[in-house]
Amino acid sequence: MSIKKITKIQPETFEFSKENLLAAENEIKKYPKDKKASAVMALLYLVQTQNDNWIPLAAIKYVAKFLGVPYIQVYEVSTFYSMFNLAPVGKYFVQVCTTTPCMIRGSKKIVDICRKHISKNQYELSENKLCSWTEVECLGACVNAPMMQINQDYFEDLDEDKTEEIIQTLLKDKLLKAGSAKNRKNTAPEKGKTTLLEVKNA
Ligand code: FES
Repeated sequence: MSIKKITKIQPETFEFSKENLLAAENEIKKYPKDKKASAVMALLYLVQTQNDNWIPLAAIKYVAKFLGVPYIQVYEVSTFYSMFNLAPVGKYFVQVCTTTPCMIRGSKKIVDICRKHISKNQYELSENKLCSWTEVECLGACVNAPMMQINQDYFEDLDEDKTEEIIQTLLKDKLLKAGSAKNRKNTAPEKGKTTLLEVKNA
């Protein structure tokens, strides 16, 4: 996104909601009084969840003031970690894992579906501005490949039909139930348990 466009979408002010203000104060309490800055990532995460998945510059300044540290110190953190978005990504942010296990099990088709229905390019908002998508490295759910993350939820064991259904529903401002599309429990074998058969809840 161009600097001009980013400047245009920046709100002038930001402040925590009542709940997040309380959550931020609780985060700070976890650290010694002179080490408040250690809460920076937790506070940026709160900003992102409050602000439709992205962190405006006004919020970076707000967090810096909140923690009593220079603005640049918070800016450095927010620009270093890829989980922080510094431009709008929509209410639903789709991250498709394309690392080897997911790639072998068909992640390219998931990317094609995102390209077709959400937007041509990564980080580009859909026409109704509700979602965007990007490719990411391994999200640690390789056993249930291929998979994608939407906001905080994992959608696993995907095939083309299921992915289409999830994306089409998203575009109508609804999120389907997360988890395995094959209804398997966690990372259990696709055809049911083969070990610990005598343990009821294993
Ligand atoms: S390779 Fe996709 S979750 Fe690990």
